[in-house]
Amino acid sequence: MTTPSFSFPDGFHWGAATAAYQIEGAVHEGGRGESIWDRWSHIPGNTLNGDTGDVACDHYHRWQEDIELMRQLGITAYRFSIAWPRVIPNGTGSVNPAGIGFYDRLVDALLEAGITPFPTLYHWDLPQVLEDEGGWPLRSTAYAFADYATVVAEHLGDRVKHWWTINEPFCVADLGYRVGEKAPGRHSDHDFLAAAHHVLLGHGLAVQAMRTVSPDANIGIVANVDNHIPVSAHPADQRAAALAHAVNAGWYLDPVLRGEYPEAAVNHHHWDQREVAPGDLDIISTPVDHHGVNYYTRKLHEDEGIDDSERPDPILTADLPRTTMGWEVYPDGLRELLVRFNDEYDLPPVYITENGAAFPDTVEDGAVHDEDRRDYLERHVSAAAEAVAAGVDLRGYFVWSLMDNYEWARGYGQRFGLVRIDYDTQERIPKDSYHWLASVIASARSSSGESGEEAVDDAGDEVVVEGLTADQPAVEDGPVDHRDGGGDVEVGG
Ligand code: FCB
Repeated sequence: MTTPSFSFPDGFHWGAATAAYQIEGAVHEGGRGESIWDRWSHIPGNTLNGDTGDVACDHYHRWQEDIELMRQLGITAYRFSIAWPRVIPNGTGSVNPAGIGFYDRLVDALLEAGITPFPTLYHWDLPQVLEDEGGWPLRSTAYAFADYATVVAEHLGDRVKHWWTINEPFCVADLGYRVGEKAPGRHSDHDFLAAAHHVLLGHGLAVQAMRTVSPDANIGIVANVDNHIPVSAHPADQRAAALAHAVNAGWYLDPVLRGEYPEAAVNHHHWDQREVAPGDLDIISTPVDHHGVNYYTRKLHEDEGIDDSERPDPILTADLPRTTMGWEVYPDGLRELLVRFNDEYDLPPVYITENGAAFPDTVEDGAVHDEDRRDYLERHVSAAAEAVAAGVDLRGYFVWSLMDNYEWARGYGQRFGLVRIDYDTQERIPKDSYHWLASVIASARSSSGESGEEAVDDAGDEVVVEGLTADQPAVEDGPVDHRDGGGDVEVGG
């Protein structure tokens, strides 16, 4: 196995990501309150095989072993999430010392291992008490979130300097309250619109509140962005893809980065904006210090009113290799999106906060030869390096995920990890992709002259060597076009 080298700025973070409900287990321990995922996953029919996160990877008990896996992997940063119902079991009010204590020890141990913590405050586990009162469609939930964020910053802000407020507001609001395929599983257009606004309001309020208790904190939000591509250059297909982009990505990025909702998406949802109080968009667009991008795949769009005979050749088809999620493997989409966002927004420094793939791994003689995942990661890291060469101020790349885990409604059926979990024994088996990434990181860290010690010293600082951002040297092996089967249609953006 050869070790490719990629050109990134000095101080670039190599990381891995997880989320509390997907790995911790121990849902009834340490005074933790119930979350919407505990409630929803236990309702028959909601998840594959009725799987729940009750035990998951048992990380709540095995976190030291997991940090050792991270240390050996050589990552310089770890994105995990903090479970609101562990810290404030009733959503508002009393803080649970055992809950915040768990994250306190985790943070100390990460820093000790030379790994910079990048916690997310909300990765979908709303305290059930708040959902019972009305959930994210209520304005008060945004204020409750800001209070919780303040509590966490007060406890950990002396050591944690990089924060994410909300993971994927699209999934929280749209999939949770309209489509109903994620907790709390509602099917209401109105609840979705109200939830979407209040999630963003909660983000803005949290940014402001956290800064008052931790002025040197770097704070941002994490958005999931697929690359929405028209099947042809026909203007109607182009419009369909542009609308999908506005509804899925612009809906959450424009308010935060521009202080406005995208008109096309507002019209599409027939939203009268009754939830938007004067000043809300100023709060939501409070400047952020960094921005998180979760990228996995592309989506093709066509205008159904158009006949194929009217379309100019060639027509794109969904024929790329797929992961077991059914998602096409399209690394160019990552570069295209990063460059597009850089052109369209006044972006702060960017991190790829999730990227990775589920494949049908098998264990052979105690090893997992996941060549497909290694290939996926290599091609996406390469695309990220191309984005840097094109001028994007990219500060880090986090693999989803450190280990196999509970993939929400799809239960334990999807394996995204660099480390395999045997759910019967909780044995951890580093896969070939883990060993590959370890060698990539080791070579990147040694060529930038970085040692583990320096990583500890850097823990609290945003370090980028002067002059090594927009003017990066080109990717060492030259930009590679990985588009296989994409045709030569010009895509919008
Ligand atoms: C993202 C989620 C993450 C995981 C990956 C596969 O949407 O943020 O928790 O489920 O997808």
